Amino acid sequence: MSAAELTWVPKAAVIAREAGARLREFFAQGVEAEYKGDVDIVTVADRTSEKLIRERLADAFPEHGVYGEEGTRERMQGEYRWYVDPLDGTTNFAHGFPQFCVSMGLEHRPAGIAPEADGTIVAGVIYDPMRDELYTAERGRGAWLNGKPARVSRVPDLAESLVSTGFPSRKRHDSPNVHFYHEFTLRSHGVRRAGSAALDLAYVATGRLEAFWEFNLNPWDTAAGILLVQEAGGLVTDFASGPFQLNSREVLATNGKIHAEMVELFKDLFAGRNLTPIPTPQEFAQRRAEREAAK
Ligand code: IPD
Ligand code: CA
Ligand code: CA
Repeated sequence: MSAAELTWVPKAAVIAREAGARLREFFAQGVEAEYKGDVDIVTVADRTSEKLIRERLADAFPEHGVYGEEGTRERMQGEYRWYVDPLDGTTNFAHGFPQFCVSMGLEHRPAGIAPEADGTIVAGVIYDPMRDELYTAERGRGAWLNGKPARVSRVPDLAESLVSTGFPSRKRHDSPNVHFYHEFTLRSHGVRRAGSAALDLAYVATGRLEAFWEFNLNPWDTAAGILLVQEAGGLVTDFASGPFQLNSREVLATNGKIHAEMVELFKDLFAGRNLTPIPTPQEFAQRRAEREAAK
């Protein structure tokens, strides 16, 4: 199926590319960061991108609702709703670290659905303006990177996997994720923390990563990316292998093959079982002395 035959992606992709081009201009100029809280920052680029996307979506899909990270709440009773992250990876962006994107996921909410219930994500577009990479998906039709079909990787176990995660910018002391980071680092080829959850999900969908997990994400971070992973043949659940929910604040996305193994490790981590011990200071000093003696 060519991209032109898709229902929502063609127009949404034009919008994501335009917003991405604006981000690229701001990135070249450099922008000041303002604090929303703790280390949670926002820039003029986040706001400009959201305004542009909101206006373009209203022209392209006048009936659709828009729920954006920077405060947009429009036509929330609509049958369709876009979750928009106008700049995912703001911390990277503000530091001149070129890993960020625009993310737009479309939810179908049939008439009568309870306000707190999830509808179905039916389309997703993620655009990385620094690499000119456009990731697209529609439910039941497939996932693409720059128009070529995207597939998850076939790596069968965690020990041979490259995985990724992220850390919250609010209430950092409450997050247990550093323990997960430690354990997954010891049991895989490595854990990346590249700073854009939407791109992490897009990388799982395209086989660059075997898995991604994070605590406390919002629907604008995940809506597009989870559909990409599913349509590329991967699996997305909560940490206990239950159904993923937009507001559940738990996302585990994998190539499918290492999913059960990761869920088992999550169980152990939450229970504090079977964890890899770290050396005591004495053991550490002794190993160092042995290495020195062997030289
Ligand atoms: C953040 C990024 C980051 C993730 C944070 C998110 P933002 O989004 O996706 O990778 O670890 O949890 O908040 O604030 O740059 O849109
Ligand atoms: Ca985000
Ligand atoms: Ca953002």
